[in-house]
Amino acid sequence: MSKYVIETRNLTKQYGAQKSVARLNIHVQKGRIYGLLGRNGAGKTTTMKMLLGLTQPTSGEVAIWGKPLAANEKKLLPRIGSLIESPGFYPNLTATENLRIFATLRGVPNRNAIKNALDLVGLPYKDRKLFSQYSLGMKQRLAIALAIMHDPELLILDEPINGLDPIGIAEVRSFIRNLCNERGKTILISSHILSEIALLADDIGIIDHGTLLEEESLEELETKSSKHIRFTVSDTAQAARILERSFHENQFTIQDDHNMRLHNLNISIGKIVTAFVENGLEVSQAATSEESLEDYFKRVTGGEGIA
Ligand SMILES: Nc1ncnc2c1ncn2[C@@H]1O[C@H](COP(=O)(O)OP(=O)(O)OP(=O)(O)O)[C@@H](O)[C@H]1O
Ligand SMILES: [Mg+2]
Repeated sequence: MSKYVIETRNLTKQYGAQKSVARLNIHVQKGRIYGLLGRNGAGKTTTMKMLLGLTQPTSGEVAIWGKPLAANEKKLLPRIGSLIESPGFYPNLTATENLRIFATLRGVPNRNAIKNALDLVGLPYKDRKLFSQYSLGMKQRLAIALAIMHDPELLILDEPINGLDPIGIAEVRSFIRNLCNERGKTILISSHILSEIALLADDIGIIDHGTLLEEESLEELETKSSKHIRFTVSDTAQAARILERSFHENQFTIQDDHNMRLHNLNISIGKIVTAFVENGLEVSQAATSEESLEDYFKRVTGGEGIA
């Protein structure tokens, strides 16, 4: 029995001579958001299709809730909601009418399922607007509504924020977060945008040329990429004494006479600056450094980085 909701073992997909996914081992934990991060052509969609039985692996295995997908598709797939390619919505029907057709096809029992799903993604129920009149962002929301309509335990969403404007992205992010936090869903989401995954995911898998380069929790990643508070002061030796004496803090490194880094982010920057100033130090800079996460990704992916 696997403790993971999704586990792949050496999952591989070869098209012709090219391996689109190569010996991939990912581990998605229950009740968490897993972000699969990779640039265009990295193999995200191909991986997700194999997880959903939409394409067969060349070799390797997929286990979902500890069971091999290959032998249990009929049992496992109905418990998953997915957004892979734009679903075939009817252009001349409304959103509600479209969802009703899918609900009938899938035997969704809950009478309120359609309204609930539309509410969640922020689309009106029984609106008269036809699908063909929908904007890209509304179409994307409707596609997500379809994925969650049957209240699946596991969601697999391929680039769900594609085509959304910044406000739309923030809204989608917050309802995906809620699905996880409030309804206990397990969510696998892909993106080529580092900042997006960093904001949303609990765990991150970095895929490049079909290969998984790293897999870890965001927490581990932040420690590794050593997020810190940077101080520029008139005298770092004195600043160090103040940190030790007044804050009982020794998790810092001194770069030179004026620059130092504090690795404990739990202390208020304001309190430290106040203490420095009260002890006669000049403080010309005090800021949390965020750039190292991107530096870290650049290093992992071999320099090119991910947007
Ligand atoms: N049906 C197919 N036949 C041949 N090659 C394919 C097929 N599907 C995908 N590929 C190739 O596999 C590689 C991975 O493609 P995939 O769509 O999985 O990448 P992706 O990470 O989803 O990229 P994007 O961010 O652009 O969506 C690409 O080189 C692509 O050309
Ligand atoms: Mg893709």
